[in-house]
Amino acid sequence: MHPLDEWIANQVLTRKEFADKLDISVATLSRYLSRDRVPKPKIMRKIIEATGGVITPENFYFIGNYKDVQFKKSFFGTDLLSIEVLNANEITSILDRSEYFIKPYGTLLNSQKNYKNRTLINLFFEDSTRTITSFELAAKRLGMNVINMQIETSSIRKGESLIDTAMTLNAMHPDILVIRHSLSGVPHLLADKVRCAVINAGDGQHEHPTQALLDALVIRRRKGKIKGLKVAICGDIAHSRVARSNIKLLTTMGAKVNVIAPKTLMPNGIENLGARIYNDMKKGLENTDIVMILRLQHERMHGSYIPSPREYFRFYGLDIIKLRYAKRDALVMHPGPINRGIEIDSQLADDIDRTLILEQVELGVAIRMSVIEHLISNIEN
Ligand code: CP
Repeated sequence: MHPLDEWIANQVLTRKEFADKLDISVATLSRYLSRDRVPKPKIMRKIIEATGGVITPENFYFIGNYKDVQFKKSFFGTDLLSIEVLNANEITSILDRSEYFIKPYGTLLNSQKNYKNRTLINLFFEDSTRTITSFELAAKRLGMNVINMQIETSSIRKGESLIDTAMTLNAMHPDILVIRHSLSGVPHLLADKVRCAVINAGDGQHEHPTQALLDALVIRRRKGKIKGLKVAICGDIAHSRVARSNIKLLTTMGAKVNVIAPKTLMPNGIENLGARIYNDMKKGLENTDIVMILRLQHERMHGSYIPSPREYFRFYGLDIIKLRYAKRDALVMHPGPINRGIEIDSQLADDIDRTLILEQVELGVAIRMSVIEHLISNIEN
């Protein structure tokens, strides 16, 4: 029974009477109660007020029994370099455990293992705001020591090679090295040289596994499932590691994926990952549940791929008009950083009814806590 249904029954009210208090139809209230829809902020505020704060927004996201799931010994290896090494059960295990970490973060520290003698090093050779900060927060919330290597002031500037740098850090016995690099394959190369666990935090245009995992968590919480959903990934597919990791994860979990881009930004062979290719937003967005938007990744472009940002926005930038091609309740995601007015309309980016950008950032911490815990368990065993 939905907690709000229970509250309504306890007040000796009918659904109709409660719906009248909110100025909505009983059909709309029933959709909230069946978790088919999340109330808009105005209605959410009325519900919180009417129930004296007993019911909160959290009650409307699909959380099933996930939060009761305790940590299970994981079965993938001691590194997380790519989504393709994970099967559906392993992905589900990481997502389920993340639910446990979402609220309250303190629970773990009272009931679970102590990681205070464990160390995580962030080794980012490429810029980051979300990923580096959330790995730091995740490790600290688990009680670990965290070191953020400052590449600009490191001995790399004196000519030390990538491999020598990684082996030097490894000699100090960290437990996890989180690596981001502009070249595809660097985390794989370094994982072969070091004893500690390696997490790929984004390598060139290859993969960004923890981004795909956090995106999956957001989708599952909002839609109640991943299997059977239709997801459109739109934008610079050619240079996107997020697109590759997401296509692999979503197809492994039974979703259908459309990729939409101009021909110049659509890589050869992407259909081999199981995605359907579209060069037109109208056709590609038809009947989709989730629309994932990607920015133009100029840092990986060599040459000119679009006539102008203005023309790109006209044909491929997502705004409320183009979003109408998708399902009525389709939700918008973006891994960030966003470029307003180029791949996404600024107003749509701020529309909390349709767009989940900050929720993606928020859940990134829980996903990374779960990944760290899985890997440390594997090191121990
Ligand atoms: N989504 C993502 O990887 O963002 P950052 O580059 O800020 O880490």
